[in-house]
Amino acid sequence: MSTIFSGIQPSGTLTLGNYLGAMKHFVDLQEEDNCYFCIVDEHAITVPQDRLKLRENIRSLAALYLASGIDPDKSTLFIQSEVSAHTQLGWMLQCVSYIGELERMTQFKDKSTVGKEGVSAGLLTYPPLMASDILLYQTDIVPVGEDQKQHLELTRNLAQRFNSKFNDIFTVPEVSIPKVGARIMSLQDPTKKMSKSDENQKSFISMLDDEKKIIKKIKSAVTDSDGIVKYDKENKPGVANLLTIYSICTGKSIPSLEEEYKNKGYGDFKQDVAEAVVKTLKPIQERYEELIHSDQLDEILDKGAEKASFTANKMLQKAKKAMGLGRVKKKRK
Ligand code: TYM
Repeated sequence: MSTIFSGIQPSGTLTLGNYLGAMKHFVDLQEEDNCYFCIVDEHAITVPQDRLKLRENIRSLAALYLASGIDPDKSTLFIQSEVSAHTQLGWMLQCVSYIGELERMTQFKDKSTVGKEGVSAGLLTYPPLMASDILLYQTDIVPVGEDQKQHLELTRNLAQRFNSKFNDIFTVPEVSIPKVGARIMSLQDPTKKMSKSDENQKSFISMLDDEKKIIKKIKSAVTDSDGIVKYDKENKPGVANLLTIYSICTGKSIPSLEEEYKNKGYGDFKQDVAEAVVKTLKPIQERYEELIHSDQLDEILDKGAEKASFTANKMLQKAKKAMGLGRVKKKRK
């Protein structure tokens, strides 16, 4: 049995990209493996947040995890800030990270375009905190979308560096990126990834969008003018993106979809993609509505934090000892 860890930021409603690239896979993994799924609220505050909205988003993300099929009897679901070992080990890992390697992270570069006076130090030290999340649980596999690949490489480097500098205590994790859907693209600019922070609401589908909105957004998705439903990422990125979405939502292969739509236009194709997305999200949305106001959610998160703390604290003690933190207790005479 492997140990799995993954996290999602509660920084707005999740998109179809978050679901198809990450969350959907979590559900399959929990059948066989020892899974930890985290609401990484401490990562969310690396950029400014409205405190009331953040708290709402945290609860909403917990409900979405469960509504998507995360079973609290099989997986540990918890909030990062409720397990203090994360920031403690995060600090220690910052002290084995180099500023140069942190500045090379593309996510940091993308989000710090306003200049160093305008971004938080937390945005720079985000990756060692992410490494801490993963390493505290002796994680074997981290399922994520493609955009997290570089952070995972750094996590592996930090684990190896710590192991060789201090003591060989950390499992060096493997990344798991889905073959299809690792990078769902924006509906309005299919050369950019679909992102919940995009200002153009038409560019992404929120997991909580209703049927009407989903149909409208897919119908206005940018494609091209040749009218052929064919997977060609380079030359037809909009159609390729819709084919990817359609394929994951229905379980049909991309070649079989190309065949099915050989003599049909984009109108029919988009209508069917939209219906497949609605069919995928609707049951999740219905369960979400039941869960969001229930006490059950608090019980699950309390239990999750307790279980995660137990494992994380043991690892934290090992890491502190390896680095020489704390004191040697004198034996009583
Ligand atoms: P976050 O919150 O941005 O995204 C959550 C997950 O969704 C994936 N994802 C996508 N997949 C396909 N297409 C897209 N357009 C798309 N957008 C997002 C992400 O790759 C991710 O798997 N740093 C992480 C959170 C994190 C974490 C961790 C992940 C913190 N600690 C430890 C794994 C392990 C993040 O910002 O994900």
